[in-house]
Amino acid sequence: MGQLWKGRFKKELAKETNDFNSSISFDCRMFEEDIKGSIAHATMLGATGIIEKSEADKITAELDSILNDIKSGALKIDMEAEDIHTFVEGELTQRLGQTGKRLHTARSRNDQVALDIRMTLKKETKEIKEKLKALVGVLCDKAEEHTETIMPGYTHLQRAQPITFGHHLMAYAAMLLRDIDRLDDAAERMNVLPLGSGALAGTTYPLDRQMTAELLEFNGVTQNSLDGVSDRDFCIELASALSLIMVHLSRFCEEIIMWCSWEFKFVELDDAFSTGSSIMPQKKNPDIAELVRGKSGRVFGDLTTLLTVMKGIPLAYNKDMQEDKEAIFDAFDTVKMCLTAFTPMIETMSVLKDNMRAAAAKGFINATDCADYLVGKGLPFRDAYKATGELVALCIDKGLTLETLELEEYKAVCDLFDEGIYKAISLEKCTFDRKVEGGPSPESVKRQIEIAKEKIK
Ligand code: ARG
Repeated sequence: MGQLWKGRFKKELAKETNDFNSSISFDCRMFEEDIKGSIAHATMLGATGIIEKSEADKITAELDSILNDIKSGALKIDMEAEDIHTFVEGELTQRLGQTGKRLHTARSRNDQVALDIRMTLKKETKEIKEKLKALVGVLCDKAEEHTETIMPGYTHLQRAQPITFGHHLMAYAAMLLRDIDRLDDAAERMNVLPLGSGALAGTTYPLDRQMTAELLEFNGVTQNSLDGVSDRDFCIELASALSLIMVHLSRFCEEIIMWCSWEFKFVELDDAFSTGSSIMPQKKNPDIAELVRGKSGRVFGDLTTLLTVMKGIPLAYNKDMQEDKEAIFDAFDTVKMCLTAFTPMIETMSVLKDNMRAAAAKGFINATDCADYLVGKGLPFRDAYKATGELVALCIDKGLTLETLELEEYKAVCDLFDEGIYKAISLEKCTFDRKVEGGPSPESVKRQIEIAKEKIK
């Protein structure tokens, strides 16, 4: 198939140049959006009388059959074509002759490609959102099973205060719910029709842009033709939202990898989501989690690609912008793949409650509660903190814990202590009494689950 722009040229494009210039290998995935965009454009051209209604009807009908033929496999996309836009228009013209040549009236590939990417990313965003919601659903279900499963909470990877596994899981649910909001937010800004921007300077034809926007389910139209064809902010915003999703998945994976180690043994992954070693027979490796953590690098790379491609190009369209598609498609594909592998891995992992409980019982995780106990007896917090610090030092010296330290020793440090201290520092009390909104108590976590479930409905 020849180029659309042949008229001015005396020679064919060199084979190497054609391969370099062509984008069909990656923009062919937009065939459906390209054709649907053209159907809407032709419909509007017919309705406004810019082309004959009868010709518009022929064009839309033929575009429809091209779409069906590609879907059924009857029509193969020609990988020698310059891009998907060229291919579809060429095929239409082959089938309809002169009438096919009218489709591109009042349109440029510049506003066409800007349209196609927006339509494609709308669909991709929806898919990612569904996958995120499914993951949040799994987290809610797992959290529900573990509202009373005590585990150590950490800061600096040092045991800090007791929490529940349900609470920990719902922290990730909160991150993913923000991710969904971010995608919605970017998708909303992207939801305006660029068609009508033409190559850069709009058009003299009396287009009805609102009509095309309505046909394609856009909320409005772009307000400046130069910006309409040269804006790729939406790609960058989405790549940034996808990068944050990967940050969250990667942190989660890091924890799962640690939790699977013999040093922690808080969870065990299902065999279907682990791999073995070729030499060490005892090994069960969390490869899936590691790979998700590693793939975050690709997505951040895609974001960097997009920022770098866009940062130095003058208005309006420049061919540099053809580089947007591989980067943004890769980001979507990678996140999709990661979520597809990650969600069932979480769903099927077993939680080793006793190990979590045992780890929480070490490391003076209830020291804050010991100080709070003294505060309850009237001591200012700073003094209570200091007294508890002394008790911890004493326990370390004697190889004891706050639970096993004799009451006499407590009293020697501060005479406000009585028998009640043992109840006050019990792990269950320390955890389940943190009933503050957002806290780890079972009631509070159940509330978090309810809110999350409502959001993903
Ligand atoms: N394949 C091109 C792209 O993806 C389509 C737009 C081409 N426009 C042009 N004036 N060369 O950006």
